[in-house]
Amino acid sequence: MKRIFCLLLTLVCVLPVIAQKQQAIRPGEIWPDNDGHHIQAHGGGIIKLKNTWYWYGEERREGLDTNYRYVSCYSSTDLMNWKFNGDAIALAKPDSMLTGRWVLERPKVFYNATTKKFVMYMHLDGGIKGISHNKWAYDYARVGVAVSNKATGPFKFVRSFRPLEKESRDIGQFIDDDGSAYLVFECRPSGGFYIAKLSADFLNVEKEVSFIHLPLEGGAIVHYKGLYYAVGSALTGWSPNPNKVATAPSLAGPWSAFTDIAPPAAKTYGAQSTMFIKVTGKKDTTVIFMGDKWDPAKLWDSRYLWIPVEIGDGKLWLPEPKPWILDVRAGIWRYVGE
Ligand code: GAL
Repeated sequence: MKRIFCLLLTLVCVLPVIAQKQQAIRPGEIWPDNDGHHIQAHGGGIIKLKNTWYWYGEERREGLDTNYRYVSCYSSTDLMNWKFNGDAIALAKPDSMLTGRWVLERPKVFYNATTKKFVMYMHLDGGIKGISHNKWAYDYARVGVAVSNKATGPFKFVRSFRPLEKESRDIGQFIDDDGSAYLVFECRPSGGFYIAKLSADFLNVEKEVSFIHLPLEGGAIVHYKGLYYAVGSALTGWSPNPNKVATAPSLAGPWSAFTDIAPPAAKTYGAQSTMFIKVTGKKDTTVIFMGDKWDPAKLWDSRYLWIPVEIGDGKLWLPEPKPWILDVRAGIWRYVGE
């Protein structure tokens, strides 16, 4: 009797965990975390430390305290199953000059191996007191920086500024193979996006490495077999558009002309570029396009479009989204059922 009871107890405890295990990445579908809730890490950024990836993003869960803006933190060792570690920061309005409906978007975290600090960049925006009249204004156009001793937070807000003294809206992150860290930021007045190197402590944006003169946002970069690939999205807000790619032999350029990454009519399969993840395994390297399928009316229900790309020799292409399985140790992937 006692044995049966123990067996039943084990089953009751273990079954939900098994049921929640993700066996595949399903682009565009609900992506449950370890608690069974749809992952809330929109416009996110991912870093890898030892064998663990940390995914930070906009926490858009329903019922949040509207006095704060939240960044969530998830962790995973296989990129398919994500554990929710809570919110890494709950930020109160960081500047009394901000007015209207202020936003914290596209958070990105870098780990500085020298200072052993985690440094978060975020896009802070909204109206400016005395200047903006539109409640929905994106006039502030700054980056915020927050710091933590631990990957999961809590992050402490440090300050906000305009990188290289420029207006900055969508931000992206790129960490090169040598560990150097870059912030990608879109600048409306300049008509393009900057790739800028961070200072040694990552707390500042030190110098312009490249300026890509085309009005693109959602800037994402990957280095693959000697070429840098930069992807961006046209400026159509939450609505999808055909994202494009250019390549260069060095981050400083020269950059090629931009070409489509998917059939233009598909509008990037309804998603917008956010970043690339390069998974280098024992057998091969898989490059994942990480996009957001925004639902502006229900931001918490926005989906993720993660697709392993066809990449090489200056070409980068998104195959049609289908559920797929990743083997991070081997660095290879396959479609479900193949
Ligand atoms: C998009 C941008 C998002 C968000 C949205 C607001 O273009 O990529 O991060 O800012 O506009 O309309």
